[in-house]
Amino acid sequence: TASVPLKPGTATRVFQYHGKLLKGPSSTLTEMPSYLGPTLNLVRGQKVRIIFYNQLPEPTIAHWHGMHVPQKMDGHPMYAINKGERYVYEFEVKNPAGTNWYHAHTHEMTATQVYQGLAGLITVTDEHEQKLALPSDEYDLSIVIQDRRFTADNQLRYLQHGRHERILGFLGDTILINGQIDSIIPVKTRAYRLRLFNGSNSRIYKLGWEDGTPLTAIGTDGALLGKPENYPYIMLAPAERVELWVDFSGREIGSDLVLHSLEYHGAMPHMGGGRRGGRENEDRRGDSGSGMMGRRLTQGDNFPVVKFHIAEKTSESHELPSTLVPFQRLLDRDVANPDSPILIGLSMMHMSPELNHRSFEMEAVAESEKIPVNTIQKIRIFQEDHAMRRGGRRGMGGRGDTDDSDERGGRRGGRGGGMGMMMSMAHPIHLHGQQFQILSRLTQNRHGSGYDTVKDGFINSGWKDTVLVMPGEEVTIIKPFQDYTGLFLYHCHNLEHEDMGMMRNFLVS
Ligand code: C2O
Ligand code: CU
Ligand code: CU
Repeated sequence: TASVPLKPGTATRVFQYHGKLLKGPSSTLTEMPSYLGPTLNLVRGQKVRIIFYNQLPEPTIAHWHGMHVPQKMDGHPMYAINKGERYVYEFEVKNPAGTNWYHAHTHEMTATQVYQGLAGLITVTDEHEQKLALPSDEYDLSIVIQDRRFTADNQLRYLQHGRHERILGFLGDTILINGQIDSIIPVKTRAYRLRLFNGSNSRIYKLGWEDGTPLTAIGTDGALLGKPENYPYIMLAPAERVELWVDFSGREIGSDLVLHSLEYHGAMPHMGGGRRGGRENEDRRGDSGSGMMGRRLTQGDNFPVVKFHIAEKTSESHELPSTLVPFQRLLDRDVANPDSPILIGLSMMHMSPELNHRSFEMEAVAESEKIPVNTIQKIRIFQEDHAMRRGGRRGMGGRGDTDDSDERGGRRGGRGGGMGMMMSMAHPIHLHGQQFQILSRLTQNRHGSGYDTVKDGFINSGWKDTVLVMPGEEVTIIKPFQDYTGLFLYHCHNLEHEDMGMMRNFLVS
C-alpha cells in the first residue's frame, strides 16, 4: 500500500532492480508476493533515480508506462543493455496521482520478458489526491490481472506455436491476481479503492460484478477522473488501468462478491474482403487453431477474475466524493491540427500486424510521424478493414480530412489486390509520453451484436495512455507532446503484436 514518504520535490531515492523483489525503503517500494516486480510509490515532483541491472542472459530495458519522462529515460528498445550492464534512470515525476506501471521493452522480446515477470506497478500521489482522503493503506488495493499457462511442474509456459497463434495473441487458461492463483481478498464492510490493472499480454477483460452492481470508476490509466462515473461493466484491455470505488458496507459477513469477466464478442479476427460479413469467422474459432491442450479460456469467455470475501464488520464509513480532481477537457481550439489529424491505421495484412502499413523500424520515422514539441495534436486511430474503405471514411469522421485522404488513398490503391487477406481484430493502442484524452469513438458497427456486447464498457473520459480500438472502430484522441524532444513509441499493447512489429516512433522536435 502506498504511503507518502516525502514532500513533493524533495526526494531523491535509489532503487536497485535485479528483476527480483528487493526490499527498499518501505515507503517507496511495496513488494508483490509473486514474480512481479515491487510497486514503486512515487510522489509528484519527486526526483527519482533508478539503477537497473541486467542479470538476464539476454538484453533488456525498462519502460515506465504512462510516465512522462525524457526520451533517454523512456526505455526505448535502442537503449537495451546486455547481461552485466546497468542503466541509470533519472527523472522528475511529472504525472498526476494515478496508477502506472513499468515493464521490459526489449526489441522483439517484450512479450516473453513481461510474461516471465519483468513488470510492476507504479503509484503516483499528489496534493489533489491527498486532499480527497480516498481510502488508503490497507483499503487501497492494487489488483494486477494476468492470464498464464503452466507446465506440469508449475513453470510458466509461453507460446510454443507459430505465427498463427502469435497473431491472435497469448491467451492463458489460468487467471492470476498479483501473481497468485485462486486469490481471495478478505475485506471489511466499508469503502475501498481498487486499482485494477490488466497486465496480460493480449487478454481483454469485460469486468463486471457477478450480482450486477454497477462499477464506480474514479480513475483511468493516467489519473483520477473529474468525478466518479458508473458503468454496467468496464472493458480493460492490456496495459489499461481503472480505479474503482467499491463499498462493501451493507454486505453480509461471510458472503462473497466476485468480479467476473463477462462474455463478449467481436474482439477476435474478422476477415475483410467483403466476401463474408457478419460473424462467421469470429471469436470462438479465432483461437481454436492454437491446438493447446487442457482448459481453454477464449477471448470473450465468462469466468471469475477475483473474489472478495466480506470477512469483518466495521462501522467506519467513508463517503464517495462527488468531485475528484480538477479536469479540463481538451477541445479542437486547443490543438495544432484540428482539421488534419495524424492518422494511425491498424491493419493485419497477410498475418502481419502493422501501423499505416508499416512495420517497426528502430529509429526511422515517416514524414507523418514528425511532431513539433510543445504542441497538442489530434490523432485518429482507425481500423483499416474493408467496410471502412468501401464506406468511405469521410462520412465517419464527420469532416473533410482532405489533407490526409490522398496519402491514405494512394497507399491503399497500391495494396488493393490483397484485400481479401485483411483481418481485423481488437487492438489496444498505446502512445508513449503524456497522457491523452479521447475526443470521439465512432463505429461502423457492421459486426452487429458483437459490438453491442462491449460498447457500454469504454471509459472515454479522463486521461488515458492506451485505448482499445475494436474492429470497425475509429477513435480520435487529443494528445499533448510537451517538454521533451526525441523518439517516442506508439504501438499495439497486445504484446505479441508489438513484437511482430506493430510499433512505430514519433519524432518530437
Ligand atoms: Cu507499456 Cu511501449 O509500452
Ligand atoms: Cu508506454
Ligand atoms: Cu494489436
